[in-house]
Amino acid sequence: MSAKAWGGAFSEATDPRVELFTESISFDARLALVDIRGSQAHAKMLAKVGLLTNEEAQQIIDHLNEIGQQITRGEFEWKTELEDIHMHIETALIARIGDVGRKLHTGRSRNDQVSLDLKLYVREALQRIDEALEDLQRAFVDRYEQDREIILPGYTHLQRAQPVMAAHYWLAYCEKFQRDRDRLRDCSKRLNVLPLGAAALAGTSLPIDREETARLLNFTDVAANSLDVSSDRDFLAEAIFSMSLIAVHLSGWAEEWILWCTTEFGFLKLPDAYTTGSSIMPQKRNPDVLELIRGKSARVIADVQQILTLLKGLPLAYNRDLQEDKLAFFDAFDTISACLELAPSIVRLAKLRADKINARLEEGFLDATTLMEYLIQHGVPMRTGHEVVGHLVRLCESRGITLAEMPLADFQAVNPLIADDVYGWLGVKNVVAKLQSYGSGGINCIEEQVEEWRTRLRTEG
Ligand code: ARG
Repeated sequence: MSAKAWGGAFSEATDPRVELFTESISFDARLALVDIRGSQAHAKMLAKVGLLTNEEAQQIIDHLNEIGQQITRGEFEWKTELEDIHMHIETALIARIGDVGRKLHTGRSRNDQVSLDLKLYVREALQRIDEALEDLQRAFVDRYEQDREIILPGYTHLQRAQPVMAAHYWLAYCEKFQRDRDRLRDCSKRLNVLPLGAAALAGTSLPIDREETARLLNFTDVAANSLDVSSDRDFLAEAIFSMSLIAVHLSGWAEEWILWCTTEFGFLKLPDAYTTGSSIMPQKRNPDVLELIRGKSARVIADVQQILTLLKGLPLAYNRDLQEDKLAFFDAFDTISACLELAPSIVRLAKLRADKINARLEEGFLDATTLMEYLIQHGVPMRTGHEVVGHLVRLCESRGITLAEMPLADFQAVNPLIADDVYGWLGVKNVVAKLQSYGSGGINCIEEQVEEWRTRLRTEG
């Protein structure tokens, strides 16, 4: 007789290599506590519909609690031949309470059970990522006071373009991470549909009450098609994709700050505690953490490929391929969590080097576009203004001066509409004072936006 829970019809024992090949306990043990929570709700529901007595359900619940504590204390023994977390916990329960334990799996299968466990786990994981993102947003917003006066060059194509207040950069990242948070919340909507009770694939002839299980586990809805449940991992794919976009945002930020730390840029000083040295070059302070945040994004992006490729071409309903879904999810979650653990401290502790930034801030004609807008305000068609300023920039380049250093007579020789007040439009300080459109990086817009973010993060927290 085989010791397997599913061994009734089998005449031979499983080849140990097959056990090694098919096991998932080495990576799904981390579902233990959600598996227990799901089973406890299932037992309560079974008691409600009369498939268990209240005493039996209570006995199951109590012993599952003890098994959970044993696992948490690290005293639980994992065995490859028990395949996965579900078999481990059920076997332990049966070892404790015999036939009562043998009733727990009534009206469910591992197929809907594993889906439930994943949904419970992912729901909490997304919540934790959301909190970490909020912390990161706070770190950016909290820089406002220390960087209040600092103007940074804004770039397109990594070429100097127009100046913006430093906080405008910080709030740009807040916006990105807010969209990420919104996406996580959106994922949760579709995730919050109870799979349990789909049983293996067809539902069950037993009088289970899925609404009750949903209520007990805080699901907002009950999945309507049992075949769909058995095969559905959309919620995982969405969660991993959402994490991959977070990774991409983190990676872009890391790349930018890596550049800013170079001698060539010199904009930023990273805290020593978050840099590492070189084993040969004594002067080095390397931005390894930022580089690894950038580098680890590759894994999360790869996890999206893994889950989609895994799902592609699976016939209904459950297929064992799905067991591999957890690897993609856990990897993405662990990687993102590790990055989000360190990112806020780096954001809080890095220092902008105002001296270095200011020393070259007037280079690169950051005021050229505003000068064009000055002309537009004087009735010059935009395209003409563009040409005029282009001409003026060329003139400045040939003389090695800035637009603000150009004498009025030279401006007027190019366009007589230009008057003395033009100097109030030139130079980065004047430019950030002039920027006024909603969402711009101007000095007058930023304060309001920072205030909005402060309120938002405080109230949404
Ligand atoms: N360990 C399995 C998984 O992760 C649980 C479901 C097993 N179902 C089955 N019919 N063998 O997918």
